[in-house]
Amino acid sequence: MARILITSAIPYINGIKHLGNLVGSQLPADLYARYMRQRGHEVMFLCATDEHGTPAELAAAKAGKPVDEFCAEMHAVQSEIAAGFRLSFDKFGRSSSPQNHRLTQQFAARLDQAGLIEEVSEKQVYSNADGRFLPDRYIEGTCPNCGYDKARGDQCENCTKQLDPTDLIDARSAISGSTDLEVRETKHLYLKQSQMRGKLTEWIDTKTDWPILTTSIARKWLNDGDGLQDRGITRDLDWGVPVQKGDDPWPGMEGKVFYVWFDAPIEYIACAAEWAEEKGLDDAAWQRWWRTDKGADDVRYVQFMGKDNVPFHTLSFPTTIMGANSVGQEEWKLVDYIKAFNYLNYDGGQFSTSQGRGIFMDQALSILPADYWRWWLLSHAPEGSDAEFTWENFQSSINKDLADVLGNFVSRVTKFCRSKFSEAVPEGGSYGPDEEKLIADLTTRIRAYEGHMEAIEVRKAAAELRAIWVLGNEYLQATAPWTAFKTDPDRAAAVIRLSLNLIRVYAVLSRPFIPDAAAELLAAMQTDDDSWPTDLATALDALPAGHGFSVPKVTFAKITDDQRDDWQARFAGKRD
Ligand code: 2FM
Ligand code: ZN
Repeated sequence: MARILITSAIPYINGIKHLGNLVGSQLPADLYARYMRQRGHEVMFLCATDEHGTPAELAAAKAGKPVDEFCAEMHAVQSEIAAGFRLSFDKFGRSSSPQNHRLTQQFAARLDQAGLIEEVSEKQVYSNADGRFLPDRYIEGTCPNCGYDKARGDQCENCTKQLDPTDLIDARSAISGSTDLEVRETKHLYLKQSQMRGKLTEWIDTKTDWPILTTSIARKWLNDGDGLQDRGITRDLDWGVPVQKGDDPWPGMEGKVFYVWFDAPIEYIACAAEWAEEKGLDDAAWQRWWRTDKGADDVRYVQFMGKDNVPFHTLSFPTTIMGANSVGQEEWKLVDYIKAFNYLNYDGGQFSTSQGRGIFMDQALSILPADYWRWWLLSHAPEGSDAEFTWENFQSSINKDLADVLGNFVSRVTKFCRSKFSEAVPEGGSYGPDEEKLIADLTTRIRAYEGHMEAIEVRKAAAELRAIWVLGNEYLQATAPWTAFKTDPDRAAAVIRLSLNLIRVYAVLSRPFIPDAAAELLAAMQTDDDSWPTDLATALDALPAGHGFSVPKVTFAKITDDQRDDWQARFAGKRD
């Protein structure tokens, strides 16, 4: 049994996330967490809301609420939606937690001790119309790297380049739109990331098993002359973690807060502390996940994120960890594996929160149960390249994979048994070459499925699972129990006995993808036995002759053309 720490990129608090956000981090992380738990490993799966910085402040202002109130409300909303999608976090924390305040201030103090922090008098954009500095997203303009005209002061969404507000061409205030801007001097703390170039390069060079998407982005920033510039980690804002050196004041930094991208990844750690507090456990309980000097040396730490987040997780956060560790007081866990995703597009364009384009998580759940979305999104995860959601593809995948393949197998087997035998596993007959072949074919596929799940090859795992479902239908086709029943009812009984057992095995194998349907199938088979089919022949004996079952309600309803057209029209516009 291994110990696996899993974090998903923490979503900004500023609104409900769209399906592109979901498939880029939280959902595949949940798939992996569920699979690893089912295989008997000890899992700690953490996520939180990213509550600081300009996205939070701007959204609260738009909602006309104080930022702390807005964040508390939105955290509750995001938690509920996450539960609706069955995201099985051990803790869904908040980056504004006291634990994160304390840890962020402690990390800053360690980095200072390590000589990695510099006080810089820098030029910041000041808006005369707004009477304030415009850090990060408070300013918009044209990206100097790719020409995208809605680049923000901290990063270009289009080319992922990290930016400073003063880099933008034709800059304007995101609050008032004013272009009456001037550059003023103000003092800030800088993290000397550039000093870590050698160490980071050495570290990335050891990650030969990481997805190319992750390492290619990391290498690009490491090798690009200004990719690993020292970065300002403080801001002139009210909302955030106050700049302190541990518990002590930081002279000259009064009234400033840490930059959201400095405290957000530290929340991965603080979230475990929040988990321990909620459970009434002591510090040792969470430190055994995060401190290699306190028992975390055998933990495997896996992160999930969209590609725009890769630079922060391969360069900035590792700088924080390695830098703090270099002081020799605490030893924090570095990530072991980073799974990054490309973008999911929506019906011929991009999903966009700011433009309200696409399907948002709450809307998705209002029209169909979570499993439908989980299946489509995971089986089309944007792994090798960007992927696209279209209503036609969604309808045809759901109808074929879930209704025609899995749903139909379950319905045919259970209804046939009820009408020809009873609502119990039938007795009689024996297994022969058809069953031997099925068991051999399924065993090969189950081992392949396990391999893809361990390697976090999400699409390949989904394809393998579907192929496992297909084998059941092919077996029914080949053995035709409805025909056999007329001349050799014992033979039909044997086929149905195996098939009912196969439904239980399908429930167990499918649970990481479609947890609600899996629970329904196990309930219909009237069993709590959710053991993994390590030995398939044994697993197919779990429900003995005479064991009762019930015919499940329609597990998956087909999506009609009318529904598809209706939803396509409903989601064509802009969300309010
Ligand atoms: O891109 C985003 O949605 C960020 N809120 C992700 C932060 S991940 C981590 F650093 F905490
Ligand atoms: Zn750009």
